[in-house]
Amino acid sequence: MTATIIDGNQLAEQKRSEIKKRVDELRQRGIEPGLTVVLVGNDPASTSYVRGKEKACKAVGIRSEVLRLPKETSEEELLNHVRRCNEDPRVDGILVQLPLPDHINEQRVINSINPDKDVDGFHPISVGNLVIGNPGFLPCTPYGIMEMFRAYDISLSGRHAVVIGRSNIVGKPISLLMQREHATVTMCHSRTKHLKAFTKQADIVVAAVGRPRFVTADFVSPGSVVIDVGINRVESGKLVGDVDFEEVKEIASYITPVPKGVGPMTIAMLLHNTVWSAERKAG
Ligand code: GUN
Repeated sequence: MTATIIDGNQLAEQKRSEIKKRVDELRQRGIEPGLTVVLVGNDPASTSYVRGKEKACKAVGIRSEVLRLPKETSEEELLNHVRRCNEDPRVDGILVQLPLPDHINEQRVINSINPDKDVDGFHPISVGNLVIGNPGFLPCTPYGIMEMFRAYDISLSGRHAVVIGRSNIVGKPISLLMQREHATVTMCHSRTKHLKAFTKQADIVVAAVGRPRFVTADFVSPGSVVIDVGINRVESGKLVGDVDFEEVKEIASYITPVPKGVGPMTIAMLLHNTVWSAERKAG
């Protein structure tokens, strides 16, 4: 069996065109949705992600501004920038690109973002609302994955989903979202013993490990759905996921590629959250 490849690029393109229509409607009412991205330092991966976000905003007509701050920026200075954005009525969404330099307390910065502008869905209020099943802003990567399931009619109800990785950005929120759609979810992580024994039983595997080609054919059972959240640059300079795509695609029923899989959907959902924030404010 060769898997159906879930086309994140095509799906994101579709999303962008829906979002553009909503932006046009807002603009007709004299409202310009705005996103501020804060980038501290010059980590190459973060710089490239931020450029992608800027470009995507431009394509749909969202006003975007990137605050590029030196890596020596103090926590207090960064908090002041966030406060200014919190108060700026032209800003509907604030995204502080992670990771931050070691001398800055990441959680303190996230906590300082106005929850009404938390388009990343990382603020404790957004997280808490997700946990109790009354979600506001959903974190973009897990949200994008749920949209992929929906677009490809992949049902979660009663199915066993195994998540590898327990990060705040992906592992924890995707497990909650899949539970909300009635999946039975198992969380695995770096200390899990007999990992393959879990993934072999899964109908759905979500790999958010951060290790290139970690999930090989012997991890998955025939017909399972495999979602690859990893973006790893290997020595050759090539981008690869956490899944060995060539091997696993021969076994799975559906698989996401890297690149052109989950990545573009993450950005599309950021645009969605930003427009939703502007729509909500406009009433
Ligand atoms: N770093 C890696 N992914 C993300 C993300 O989704 N949001 C932010 N703010 N930083 C990230």
